[in-house]
Amino acid sequence: MKKHILIGITGSIAAFKIAQLVSDLVKLDYHVDVIMTKNATQFIAPMTFETLTKHKVYVDTFEREETFDVKHISLAKQADVVLVAPASANVIAKMAHGLADDMLTSTLLACTCPILVAPAMNVHMYENPVTQRNITLLKELKIQIIEPTTGRLACGDQGNGKLAPLPDLLQAIEIALSDKPLLGKKVLISAGPTIESIDPVRFISNHSSGKMGYHLAQQAKAMGADVTLVSGPVSLEAPYGVHIIDVTSALDMFEAIKKQAPQQDIIIKAAAVGDYRPTIYTTEKIKKKGETLSIECTQNPDILAYLGEHKKDHQILCGFAMETENLLEHATQKLKDKHCDLLIANNLFEEGAGFLKDTNVVTIIKKDSYQKLPMLSKKELSRSILYEIIALMEEKNVSCH
Ligand SMILES: Cc1cc2nc3c(=O)[nH]c(=O)nc-3n(C[C@H](O)[C@H](O)[C@H](O)COP(=O)(O)O)c2cc1C
Repeated sequence: MKKHILIGITGSIAAFKIAQLVSDLVKLDYHVDVIMTKNATQFIAPMTFETLTKHKVYVDTFEREETFDVKHISLAKQADVVLVAPASANVIAKMAHGLADDMLTSTLLACTCPILVAPAMNVHMYENPVTQRNITLLKELKIQIIEPTTGRLACGDQGNGKLAPLPDLLQAIEIALSDKPLLGKKVLISAGPTIESIDPVRFISNHSSGKMGYHLAQQAKAMGADVTLVSGPVSLEAPYGVHIIDVTSALDMFEAIKKQAPQQDIIIKAAAVGDYRPTIYTTEKIKKKGETLSIECTQNPDILAYLGEHKKDHQILCGFAMETENLLEHATQKLKDKHCDLLIANNLFEEGAGFLKDTNVVTIIKKDSYQKLPMLSKKELSRSILYEIIALMEEKNVSCH
């Protein structure tokens, strides 16, 4: 059955952005209902949302329909999650004090599902102690605030109060809707390539996009985990609610991971770490001379091997192996050598697998079994990998929710 998402839109200039969010949610096959405050309809017409959702948009608590249910109660009961975005200072104040003088605030008071609030307003309205106190009250009531960002505001002022980016709103909804089998668990994920500088303008790197590691981080977060992502240079948006540590070289990544690893329950090493770095970094740009150029390289530390050697009893270690031949043989050997609990192996030359794609075809290798999965999106694959890890934790008798 489709999950029901209720979106509350208030009188903020950012209201127009929610049309795109609603369109995205409908495409993801959610049932979306929209309630607008009367003032919100000054900024964008209800018809926009009625066309996108194929459902009536509610504004007036007392509007009569052919059916005789009490709409603010039935919408509240049907909702699996509510997002108020943009949330005006006025509606935040009403929510903080239990006012219910219109369709949106009446419905919010009747909701028992998770409520998310994404404030959007002028920086001085946002920083006003009254607004801040109301936001604190909402947090105390276990209402999740999706913090606004800093930037140029519609009124021309510069500062905090800009509606959070739409991908953050979408991810916050998906997190609220997900089961939370990893609640209370700490997960460390590495992602992306590393960059090994040769001189100030050149480097050695690889084609890793970071997509697999970023999807894993996003899904682990959605499943309730406290996620740290150590990321090489990528051009991806940071997943919502994930602690990111940006690194450049393999040595940087090694240092960051060494520091984070002891506190973790699960470590997934999805980064494509350079095996070698130039032995000497040349401080001036190397000039073109001669037919050939040789660069002597030194081996980088083997991060997965280090993690395997220092693995604690309760920890689960998951590695990745990209091979171009003898996949199963090489990956099984790697699992043993690096003391991994599971290894995700893929063949670069297989259709649908590889670096820059949104899909992957992998074989999940464990100590005494392996399973080849069909081609999956990296999002679906992330969930499959995390559920394999949860099964392994249960085998190890490490409790999961
Ligand atoms: C052009 C314009 C833009 C506005 N933008 C915001 C805004 O971004 N955030 C906000 O809290 N109020 C904003 N306001 C003020 C609210 O619309 C006003 O406080 C209104 O009473 C809110 O009503 P509601 O909370 O019932 O939707 C804006 C008003 C105007 C005229």
